[in-house]
Formats: sequence, structure tokens, C-alpha cells
Amino acid sequence: MAKVTFFSGQQLPLEMHKVRIIQKLTLLPIEDRLRAISSAGYNTFLLQNADVFLDMLTDSGVNAMSDQQQAAMLIADDAYAGSATYTRLANKLVELFGMDYFLPAHQGRAAEHILAQSLVTPGSIVPMNYHFTTSKAHVTAMGGEVLELITEAGLEVTSDEQFKGNLDITALRGLIQDKGAEAIAYVRVEAGTNLIGGQPLSLANIREVSAVCREHGLLSVLDASLLADNLHFNKTREAECRDLSIPEITRAIADCFDIIYFSARKLGFGRGGGICIRDEAIYKQMRGLVPMYEGFLTYGGMSVREMEAITVGLDETMDEDMINQGPQFIEHMVSELVERGIPVITPAGGLGAHLDAKRFLDHVPQQEYPAGALAAALYLASGARGMERGTMSEQRDADGVEPLANMELVRLALPRRVFTLSQVNYAIDRIDWLYHNRELIGGLRFVEEPEILRFFYGRLEPITNWVDPLVDAFRRDLGESL
Ligand code: F0G
Repeated sequence: MAKVTFFSGQQLPLEMHKVRIIQKLTLLPIEDRLRAISSAGYNTFLLQNADVFLDMLTDSGVNAMSDQQQAAMLIADDAYAGSATYTRLANKLVELFGMDYFLPAHQGRAAEHILAQSLVTPGSIVPMNYHFTTSKAHVTAMGGEVLELITEAGLEVTSDEQFKGNLDITALRGLIQDKGAEAIAYVRVEAGTNLIGGQPLSLANIREVSAVCREHGLLSVLDASLLADNLHFNKTREAECRDLSIPEITRAIADCFDIIYFSARKLGFGRGGGICIRDEAIYKQMRGLVPMYEGFLTYGGMSVREMEAITVGLDETMDEDMINQGPQFIEHMVSELVERGIPVITPAGGLGAHLDAKRFLDHVPQQEYPAGALAAALYLASGARGMERGTMSEQRDADGVEPLANMELVRLALPRRVFTLSQVNYAIDRIDWLYHNRELIGGLRFVEEPEILRFFYGRLEPITNWVDPLVDAFRRDLGESL
């Protein structure tokens, strides 16, 4: 994105790419959206994409590719073993991260599976700045325990702290003193911390984590799935990084870790994943799991076409004009929402804008899933689909007790290079309308509640009849508008 000043004085994001392939979208009338969300059990995961106008569910595997990526896909070298495509990808990763070894995997959680199987033993601890759903699931499946050491600001919905993803160094030192370094399998740091609103870590914090790990002989692991956003924030928010290029910041971060893994559904604008490893012995320890679970060592479950796209996508990630687009659109969205008094996570992070459903719907108790209800209501009001990240996304404990989430969020992801600013402005307008009519929105309850990952396939219904009055209010205020 360019840094230009508009004559009007307005600060608006300006794309440094043009759109050369388009996909037609449909915006169904609200009556049809009502039918769609009700047959999806009020769960946005169960909507058909054909019924969705703006798909803001996730940025995973749905970022737009560039012409260069598409071109590279044509030269992909199809081979089970030893493909030139794999070599190009592995070399690119060595160039960017400076680690000698690479293991491919079909996506991020597959890399997490390999890491957990190799490194986590029953009873061991994996400290993290914050968990991600799949990273936690793989650690606990191996009998390990996840401990979150996020700094206090990380869990404050509104804050001025620029690096809310930072890990609490004092807490890490305390943990090591308490439990001993031998109880810790590895320390995991997540760039662009997903579940707290795509919030970054500073390079300074990463350096401190690394110093503690080295002092105590602990393995340090970076989840780089959302590294692109983090790099943008290092560059724009951290004095030390201002004069560094994106590749220089990338290398400074990478130098702090023993292992870097990633979902290439996010990093590299493709679909795949993998693990970069500094140490040969650890590489050899993990290597055997790749042919067993993923595919041979030179594709690991990825198509060669996707590997070519990722290689080019990684290069594009080193280009400030390419990685600025997501965060700057998100910043625009967040500041417009804040201006309208709408509760949203601040400061703006990467990944997407995050509505604070606890405050948006302060009349809906957490047991009635305010974030789930808001996501359903937003689809009704706009055809945009977001993702519930609150109590619905939690799992009942062994006694069937439902833990209430720290935060009740509706995540509106902005896949990179996909939406136009007018589409984002439309979403802002409909959120604004919904905020003015928030009293009409009620809670949801499960009618079908799966035991595991219930947010994916669970079906719900409105507890009271709040849906029809909301549709009537929409018609009253917006007439025949879709
Ligand atoms: N780590 C982070 C930080 C992620 O955001 C994700 C996926 C993964 C690991 C797992 O990668 O999906 O390729 O297996 N996040 C997606 C999302 C699912 O919608 O935020 P994966």
C-alpha cells in the first residue's frame, strides 16, 4: 500500500495492485439470508459460500494469488521424490530464515502434529504467548499442558499497547524457576497472535524470549503463520525496525528461534505448511513422521503447484507494499468502527477486525453466546460472514461444565488482496446499523451440540423470537435495499 496523502486530507488505504481476475458475488435479499442462516443452524460455519456476500470467516487458504504466483504454478515440477519445485521452496526458506533444514507438511496443524509428537511427553509443559486452537489440541493430545504467558495488556480489549502479543518474560522466568527447565518441552511464540485479535510481538520481546530460552537450554519455536502482519507492525510501530528492510526484520526474528513452523494457507498466500529447523539432530528426530503422516519428504502432502505459489508468495511477503494491504484495510475498518462508538479490539491488529460482542450485546449473557448471536445477526444484516470466537468455541470439561471464554469476539477476517475498500465500507455500514438496533438481538442455544470442536458443526436456535423483528427493522430503515 502506498503512503499518499489525499488532497481532501483523508487518510485512506491505497492498493498497490490491480485486480485482473474477478469472481462474481451474490448479495441475497434479507429474506433469503434468513432462510440460509436458519438452515445453517445459526452457525456461520454451516452457511453455503454461495449464500455469502463477503466471506470474512478466515484468511486461511483464501488469499488472492498474484500473477507471478499463478505463472510459477505452470512451471511446477511434478515428481514424487526430488522435485525441483521442492528445492526451490526449501532454498527460499533457507534464504529468508537462515535455517538449514525444512520439512514440508500439508498445512499448519500438520506441522504442529509433527512437533508435538516429537517433542511433547506426558506431563510436559509448553509455554506460549497465547494458544491457537490446533496448537493446543496437539500438545494436549500428547499429554502435555499449555501455559499461556501473555502480558496483561494482551487480554485487554481496548488498549494503547502496540505489541499486545508480547510474552511475559517475568512469568517465563518464574515458570522455569518453579518447574525446572526439564519440565518444559519447548517455548512456543505465535506471531500475529490469532485469538487475541491478530496482535503482534515486538522484536525486542522476541529477543528476550530467545535469551531466556538459550540461558536455560530450552527449544524456542515460532509459529510464523501470521508473520507477514507481525513484520508490518514491527516495521511501523517499533523504532528499532524502522530503518530495517522487511527481509532484515525477518532474519532478526528468525535468528531468535530453533524452529519455525507455519501454515502456508496464511504465510505465502498459498495452501500448505512446513517446519524449518536449525539443528540437524532435531531434523532427523522429526523427519520420520513426514512420510508417515504427510507424504514423501519432498512434498509432504502439498501439491507442487501450491509449493511454487508459496515460494513466490514468500518473496512477496518480503515486499512492504504487499504485506501492508491487510493491516491497513483492517486499520481503516477498526478506526471507522471506533469513530461510530462500536466496541472493537484496539489497537487494530492483523488478520481482521474483531467486534467485542460482550459490550456490543451487553444484555446477552455469555451462556447465550453473544458472539455467536452477533455473527448470525451480522450475516442477516449484511450477507457478510464472520467467525464466533468466544464461549461457543470453548469445549465443555469432563463434568460437562461449559467454561466461559475470556473474550466474546466476532472475527471479521480480511483475506489479503481479496476485498475492495467499498466492500469493507459496506460491512462497516451494516455493523453500524446493527449497533443501532442491538437491543433487538437475543441469545442462542444449542439444539445439536457435538462433543469436540462444537463451534464447527454445532446447530443452534434463537432462544426468543428476535430474528423476525430484526428483519422488520431492517426493512423499516433500509427499505427495499438488499
Ligand atoms: N497457527 C496459527 C497462528 C493459525 O492461525 C492457524 C490457522 C494454524 C496454526 C493452523 O494452520 O489451518 O493451516 O492447519 N488458522 C486458521 C484461522 C484456521 O482461520 O485462523 P492450518
